[in-house]
Amino acid sequence: MLRVNDLQVYYGGIHALRGISLRAPEGRIVTLIGANGAGKTTTLRAVTGLVKPRSGSVRLGGEELTRLDPFRIIRKGIGVSPEGRRVFPNLTVLENLELGAYYRTSREVSAELKRVYSLFPRLEERQRQKAGTLSGGEQQMVALGRALMSRPRLLLLDEPSLGLAPLMVEEVLEAVQRMNREGATILLIEQNAMAALRVAHYGYVIETGRIVLEGEARDLLEDQRVRRAYLGEG
Ligand SMILES: Nc1ncnc2c1ncn2[C@@H]1O[C@H](COP(=O)(O)OP(=O)(O)OP(=O)(O)O)[C@@H](O)[C@H]1O
Ligand SMILES: [Mg+2]
Repeated sequence: MLRVNDLQVYYGGIHALRGISLRAPEGRIVTLIGANGAGKTTTLRAVTGLVKPRSGSVRLGGEELTRLDPFRIIRKGIGVSPEGRRVFPNLTVLENLELGAYYRTSREVSAELKRVYSLFPRLEERQRQKAGTLSGGEQQMVALGRALMSRPRLLLLDEPSLGLAPLMVEEVLEAVQRMNREGATILLIEQNAMAALRVAHYGYVIETGRIVLEGEARDLLEDQRVRRAYLGEG
Protein backbone atom coordinates (compact mmCIF):
# COMPACT_ATOMS: atom_id res chain seq x y z
CA MET A 1 0.00 0.00 0.00
CA LEU A 2 2.43 2.66 1.24
CA ARG A 3 6.10 2.52 0.30
CA VAL A 4 8.49 5.17 1.47
CA ASN A 5 11.98 4.94 0.08
CA ASP A 6 15.11 6.68 1.34
CA LEU A 7 13.53 10.02 2.25
CA GLN A 8 15.88 12.90 2.95
CA VAL A 9 14.28 15.99 4.46
CA TYR A 10 15.90 19.24 5.50
CA TYR A 11 14.44 22.18 7.38
CA GLY A 12 16.93 24.82 6.31
CA GLY A 13 20.19 23.54 7.76
CA ILE A 14 18.55 20.86 9.91
CA HIS A 15 18.80 17.39 8.42
CA ALA A 16 15.56 15.99 9.86
CA LEU A 17 15.18 12.73 7.88
CA ARG A 18 18.35 10.87 6.96
CA GLY A 19 17.11 8.19 4.61
CA ILE A 20 13.79 6.89 5.94
CA SER A 21 12.41 3.77 4.24
CA LEU A 22 9.29 1.99 5.39
CA ARG A 23 6.27 0.09 4.16
CA ALA A 24 2.70 -0.26 5.26
CA PRO A 25 1.27 -3.32 3.45
CA GLU A 26 -2.46 -3.49 2.81
CA GLY A 27 -4.57 -4.46 5.80
CA ARG A 28 -1.83 -3.99 8.38
CA ILE A 29 -1.17 -1.72 11.31
CA VAL A 30 2.40 -0.52 11.08
CA THR A 31 3.81 1.60 13.86
CA LEU A 32 6.59 4.18 13.71
CA ILE A 33 7.92 4.72 17.21
CA GLY A 34 10.52 7.12 18.51
CA ALA A 35 11.27 9.86 21.01
CA ASN A 36 10.58 13.61 20.78
CA GLY A 37 12.21 15.16 17.75
CA ALA A 38 13.11 11.83 16.12
CA GLY A 39 11.36 12.74 12.86
CA LYS A 40 7.99 10.99 13.15
CA THR A 41 5.79 13.96 12.26
CA THR A 42 8.25 14.99 9.56
CA THR A 43 7.82 11.55 7.98
CA LEU A 44 4.05 12.04 7.99
CA ARG A 45 4.45 15.52 6.48
CA ALA A 46 6.69 14.15 3.76
CA VAL A 47 4.15 11.43 2.91
CA THR A 48 1.33 13.99 2.65
CA GLY A 49 3.41 16.50 0.69
CA LEU A 50 3.52 19.16 3.41
CA VAL A 51 7.31 19.10 3.30
CA LYS A 52 9.19 18.44 0.09
CA PRO A 53 11.89 15.83 0.47
CA ARG A 54 15.28 16.63 -1.02
CA SER A 55 15.36 13.07 -2.32
CA GLY A 56 13.62 9.75 -1.93
CA SER A 57 10.13 8.64 -2.92
CA VAL A 58 6.65 7.99 -1.61
CA ARG A 59 4.34 5.57 -3.37
CA LEU A 60 0.77 4.60 -2.64
CA GLY A 61 -0.48 1.43 -4.31
CA GLY A 62 2.37 1.70 -6.80
CA GLU A 63 1.56 5.29 -7.68
CA GLU A 64 4.22 7.94 -7.31
CA LEU A 65 3.14 10.70 -4.88
CA THR A 66 6.48 12.28 -4.23
CA ARG A 67 6.11 15.67 -5.82
CA LEU A 68 2.35 16.09 -5.81
CA ASP A 69 0.62 18.84 -3.85
CA PRO A 70 -0.87 17.86 -0.47
CA PHE A 71 -4.39 18.34 -1.81
CA ARG A 72 -3.83 15.82 -4.60
CA ILE A 73 -2.06 13.37 -2.32
CA ILE A 74 -4.92 13.35 0.18
CA ARG A 75 -7.40 12.73 -2.62
CA LYS A 76 -5.59 9.53 -3.51
CA GLY A 77 -7.23 8.10 -0.40
CA ILE A 78 -5.28 9.11 2.67
CA GLY A 79 -6.91 10.03 5.98
CA VAL A 80 -4.88 11.96 8.52
CA SER A 81 -5.34 12.39 12.24
CA PRO A 82 -2.78 15.10 13.01
CA GLU A 83 -0.59 15.56 16.05
CA GLY A 84 -2.41 17.31 18.87
CA ARG A 85 -5.90 16.32 17.65
CA ARG A 86 -6.81 19.70 16.12
CA VAL A 87 -10.55 19.44 16.37
CA PHE A 88 -12.47 22.63 15.75
CA PRO A 89 -13.53 23.50 19.31
CA ASN A 90 -16.47 25.72 18.39
CA LEU A 91 -17.99 23.27 15.93
CA THR A 92 -20.10 20.35 17.07
CA VAL A 93 -18.93 16.75 16.91
CA LEU A 94 -21.13 16.23 13.87
CA GLU A 95 -19.75 19.31 12.08
CA ASN A 96 -16.18 18.22 12.80
CA LEU A 97 -16.90 14.79 11.32
CA GLU A 98 -18.59 16.25 8.25
CA LEU A 99 -15.47 18.31 7.56
CA GLY A 100 -13.56 15.08 7.09
CA ALA A 101 -15.81 14.10 4.22
CA TYR A 102 -14.96 17.15 2.11
CA TYR A 103 -15.53 15.83 -1.38
CA ARG A 104 -18.21 13.20 -0.89
CA THR A 105 -21.91 13.32 -1.70
CA SER A 106 -24.42 13.73 1.09
CA ARG A 107 -25.52 10.12 0.75
CA GLU A 108 -21.93 8.94 1.15
CA VAL A 109 -21.54 11.24 4.12
CA SER A 110 -24.47 9.68 5.95
CA ALA A 111 -23.13 6.18 5.24
CA GLU A 112 -19.71 7.13 6.61
CA LEU A 113 -21.27 8.80 9.63
CA LYS A 114 -23.06 5.57 10.44
CA ARG A 115 -19.82 3.68 10.20
CA VAL A 116 -17.96 6.17 12.41
CA TYR A 117 -20.75 6.11 14.99
CA SER A 118 -20.71 2.32 15.09
CA LEU A 119 -16.97 2.48 15.82
CA PHE A 120 -17.39 5.31 18.35
CA PRO A 121 -20.88 5.10 19.89
CA ARG A 122 -19.96 7.88 22.29
CA LEU A 123 -19.62 10.32 19.40
CA GLU A 124 -23.17 9.66 18.35
CA GLU A 125 -24.42 10.45 21.85
CA ARG A 126 -22.41 13.67 21.76
CA GLN A 127 -22.97 14.69 18.16
CA ARG A 128 -24.52 18.08 19.03
CA GLN A 129 -21.91 18.93 21.65
CA LYS A 130 -19.19 21.48 20.86
CA ALA A 131 -15.99 19.52 20.29
CA GLY A 132 -14.01 21.87 22.55
CA THR A 133 -16.04 20.73 25.56
CA LEU A 134 -15.25 17.02 25.06
CA SER A 135 -12.66 15.21 27.15
CA GLY A 136 -9.21 14.71 25.63
CA GLY A 137 -9.98 11.10 24.77
CA GLU A 138 -13.30 12.00 23.18
CA GLN A 139 -11.59 14.71 21.11
CA GLN A 140 -9.11 12.11 19.95
CA MET A 141 -12.01 9.93 18.83
CA VAL A 142 -13.38 12.88 16.86
CA ALA A 143 -10.00 13.29 15.17
CA LEU A 144 -9.89 9.57 14.30
CA GLY A 145 -13.49 9.56 13.13
CA ARG A 146 -12.89 12.64 10.99
CA ALA A 147 -9.91 10.92 9.35
CA LEU A 148 -12.18 7.99 8.47
CA MET A 149 -14.92 10.09 6.90
CA SER A 150 -13.30 10.21 3.46
CA ARG A 151 -13.13 6.38 3.46
CA PRO A 152 -9.36 6.40 3.07
CA ARG A 153 -7.27 3.47 1.87
CA LEU A 154 -4.53 4.52 4.24
CA LEU A 155 -4.81 6.17 7.64
CA LEU A 156 -1.94 8.17 9.11
CA LEU A 157 -2.34 8.68 12.86
CA ASP A 158 0.10 10.98 14.64
CA GLU A 159 0.36 10.12 18.35
CA PRO A 160 -3.30 9.41 19.08
CA SER A 161 -2.46 8.36 22.65
CA LEU A 162 -0.61 11.56 23.54
CA GLY A 163 -1.76 13.15 26.78
CA LEU A 164 -4.38 10.50 27.54
CA ALA A 165 -4.80 8.57 30.78
CA PRO A 166 -3.86 4.86 30.53
CA LEU A 167 -7.45 3.64 30.28
CA MET A 168 -8.19 6.13 27.53
CA VAL A 169 -5.02 5.05 25.70
CA GLU A 170 -6.37 1.50 25.71
CA GLU A 171 -9.72 2.65 24.42
CA VAL A 172 -8.24 4.74 21.61
CA LEU A 173 -5.87 1.98 20.51
CA GLU A 174 -8.70 -0.55 20.56
CA ALA A 175 -10.54 1.81 18.24
CA VAL A 176 -7.47 1.83 15.97
CA GLN A 177 -7.66 -1.98 15.87
CA ARG A 178 -11.35 -1.88 15.02
CA MET A 179 -10.66 0.59 12.21
CA ASN A 180 -8.06 -1.83 10.90
CA ARG A 181 -10.42 -4.82 11.12
CA GLU A 182 -12.87 -2.83 9.02
CA GLY A 183 -10.27 -2.67 6.29
CA ALA A 184 -8.06 0.37 6.88
CA THR A 185 -4.32 0.12 6.45
CA ILE A 186 -2.78 2.16 9.25
CA LEU A 187 0.50 3.91 9.90
CA LEU A 188 0.44 4.58 13.63
CA ILE A 189 2.96 7.10 14.92
CA GLU A 190 3.58 6.78 18.64
CA GLN A 191 5.94 7.63 21.45
CA ASN A 192 4.09 5.15 23.62
CA ALA A 193 6.04 2.26 22.12
CA MET A 194 4.71 -0.51 24.29
CA ALA A 195 1.06 0.38 23.69
CA ALA A 196 1.66 0.81 19.96
CA LEU A 197 3.52 -2.49 19.59
CA ARG A 198 0.70 -4.32 21.32
CA VAL A 199 -1.79 -3.31 18.61
CA ALA A 200 0.50 -3.17 15.56
CA HIS A 201 1.62 -6.00 13.28
CA TYR A 202 4.97 -4.50 12.39
CA GLY A 203 7.09 -1.71 13.82
CA TYR A 204 9.89 0.69 12.93
CA VAL A 205 12.00 2.52 15.50
CA ILE A 206 13.19 5.97 14.43
CA GLU A 207 16.05 7.87 16.05
CA THR A 208 17.35 11.25 14.86
CA GLY A 209 15.98 10.82 11.37
CA ARG A 210 16.99 7.20 10.83
CA ILE A 211 15.26 3.84 11.17
CA VAL A 212 17.46 2.02 13.66
CA LEU A 213 15.37 -1.10 14.15
CA GLU A 214 12.40 -2.79 12.52
CA GLY A 215 10.54 -6.05 12.86
CA GLU A 216 7.36 -7.90 13.72
CA ALA A 217 5.70 -6.05 16.58
CA ARG A 218 5.77 -9.07 18.88
CA ASP A 219 9.52 -9.45 18.35
CA LEU A 220 10.15 -5.76 19.04
CA LEU A 221 8.12 -6.05 22.24
CA GLU A 222 10.64 -8.64 23.42
CA ASP A 223 13.67 -6.78 22.09
CA GLN A 224 16.10 -5.73 24.81
CA ARG A 225 17.04 -2.51 23.00
CA VAL A 226 13.40 -1.45 22.77
CA ARG A 227 12.72 -2.39 26.37
CA ARG A 228 15.79 -0.51 27.54
CA ALA A 229 14.92 2.61 25.56
CA TYR A 230 11.20 2.66 26.36
CA LEU A 231 10.74 0.89 29.67
CA GLY A 232 13.95 2.01 31.35
CA GLU A 233 14.96 -1.63 31.81
CA GLY A 234 18.66 -2.08 32.38
N1 LIG B 1 9.26 23.55 10.71
C1 LIG B 1 10.43 23.17 11.23
N2 LIG B 1 11.53 23.95 11.12
C2 LIG B 1 12.73 23.56 11.61
N3 LIG B 1 12.95 22.38 12.23
C3 LIG B 1 11.89 21.56 12.36
C4 LIG B 1 10.58 21.91 11.88
N4 LIG B 1 9.74 20.91 12.17
C5 LIG B 1 10.47 19.97 12.81
N5 LIG B 1 11.76 20.37 12.93
C6 LIG B 1 12.87 19.61 13.53
O1 LIG B 1 12.94 18.34 12.91
C7 LIG B 1 13.19 17.31 13.84
C8 LIG B 1 12.09 16.27 13.78
O2 LIG B 1 10.88 16.84 14.23
P1 LIG B 1 9.50 16.04 14.21
O3 LIG B 1 8.42 17.00 14.51
O4 LIG B 1 9.40 15.25 12.97
O5 LIG B 1 9.69 15.04 15.45
P2 LIG B 1 8.70 14.01 16.11
O6 LIG B 1 9.37 12.68 16.05
O7 LIG B 1 7.35 14.12 15.50
O8 LIG B 1 8.67 14.50 17.63
P3 LIG B 1 7.47 14.59 18.69
O9 LIG B 1 7.31 13.23 19.27
O10 LIG B 1 7.96 15.56 19.71
O11 LIG B 1 6.24 15.06 17.97
C9 LIG B 1 13.30 18.01 15.20
O12 LIG B 1 14.66 18.22 15.47
C10 LIG B 1 12.57 19.31 14.99
O13 LIG B 1 13.09 20.34 15.82
MG1 LIG C 1 5.55 14.69 16.21
